[in-house]
Amino acid sequence: MRQIGIGLAGLGTVGAGVYKHVAQNRALLMERIGVELVVRRAVVRDPSKARVAGPSREQLSTRWQDLIDDPAIDIVVELMGGIDEPLALIRAAVTAGKVVVTGNKALLAEHGQEIFALAAEKRVPVFFEASTAGGIPIIKTIREALIANHIVSIHGIINGTSNYILTRMTDARLDFAEALAEAQAQGYAEADPTLDINGWDAAHKAVILASLAYGFWVGTDQIFVEGIDRLTATDIRFADELGYRVKLLAIIKADAAGPDGTAGSGGIEVRVHPTLIPKHHVLASVSGVFNAVRVCGDVVGETLFYGRGAGQDPTASAVISDLAEAAISLGGARGSYGFTPHGLYGNCRPLEDIRSRYYLRLAVDDKPGVLGQVASILGRHDVGISSVVQPETHDEAGRAQLVLMLDRASHRQMQSALEDILRLSAVMPPPALLRVESFTT
Ligand code: NAP
Ligand code: HSE
Repeated sequence: MRQIGIGLAGLGTVGAGVYKHVAQNRALLMERIGVELVVRRAVVRDPSKARVAGPSREQLSTRWQDLIDDPAIDIVVELMGGIDEPLALIRAAVTAGKVVVTGNKALLAEHGQEIFALAAEKRVPVFFEASTAGGIPIIKTIREALIANHIVSIHGIINGTSNYILTRMTDARLDFAEALAEAQAQGYAEADPTLDINGWDAAHKAVILASLAYGFWVGTDQIFVEGIDRLTATDIRFADELGYRVKLLAIIKADAAGPDGTAGSGGIEVRVHPTLIPKHHVLASVSGVFNAVRVCGDVVGETLFYGRGAGQDPTASAVISDLAEAAISLGGARGSYGFTPHGLYGNCRPLEDIRSRYYLRLAVDDKPGVLGQVASILGRHDVGISSVVQPETHDEAGRAQLVLMLDRASHRQMQSALEDILRLSAVMPPPALLRVESFTT
């Protein structure tokens, strides 16, 4: 199978995650894209640092130029952070014809116009899914899936660190410093968290989303930015009492549509600031490191995307999706004809073996011993009971309603337990059996 060589510039939180998951999901990736992604070299500041994941010491370098000079590297992945070095690296990579993948939103917000002009001139793509909203595929969504739409508005919770801090301040009553320390320990915050808390990390992402949505590079001097650094616990509490949650929200809106659906003459607005959101709105329940982006299009209407917005694994997922796209752009990778077959799982498990939790409601004669009989049948079939409710009111036929929440059991177990239960003369069919999903995976 053809190999595609990758040069990783940066082996920190995200770079190490990319290395780890390219190795762990090697077989799946080969099946899906038809080429093998091989990390040939990585660039770091300190090669002697102990690392959980990464190539051998001989494959480490401190000079990003080594990635450009290595003819076996087809794709350069920039995950160093900062501005000047990454910009020089990306310019050199594109000029050398190497496809670029980056997660560097600060760089794109400041120099996107220049980078993409060079990419177009050299006909070398630059992919940047990881730059905005971590694991949520919002870049591909706006660029591809919503291509039919004039974007009417985008509302996004797009900084995981500040959302984590606000959530912990609201729910656990932590003070700002404690919540920030937790976010840093989890790898959500930038090396220098100033941009996370002063709103500029979200603003850089807002610039990228706005530019993608409206087709011109929005200047960082054209947007209004206020962070969570001046927000007090008192205001979070008053907002709560008034029925609101405070979120750092990026708001991007086109002026009222013209007669043909195009943006009005007033252009667009881009702003990032702490915002009171009604508690009943879905965005108000986006907690912790989670991000959510609501995109309104003139054709599709309202859409909503939700997922982890920062951290090693979700961000690695976004980078690797770009690696697959980059590999396809190089030719030789397997193009898709709408569906790519692969045989890693191979079959559907029979319904009888599928396990879930259950809600079971039975109409029963209101007499002593019935609950005991039902419980003993469930026990015989190895189905655990997690709770039982029997309201004092009865149905129109005078029967009691027995409501049982049951532990995980297979469909087969549940069906045979139910057959035995329905043989009891005190139980009137039909039973109501519903499955319970806890979203643990
Ligand atoms: P990080 O943990 O600080 O890692 C940076 C890596 O780059 C380290 O391996 C460092 O080497 C290396 N490096 C930095 N400057 C270098 C230089 N001048 N020359 C050579 N190597 C250099 O950063 P990160 O959190 O992984 O973030 C990387 C990028 O992804 C940033 O642009 C960030 O904004 C973006 N991003 C991060 C997240 C996240 O959740 N963390 C999410 C989305 C996007 P050493 O290991 O030797 O120090
Ligand atoms: N520091 C960023 C955040 C990382 O907290 O959202 C993801 O871009």
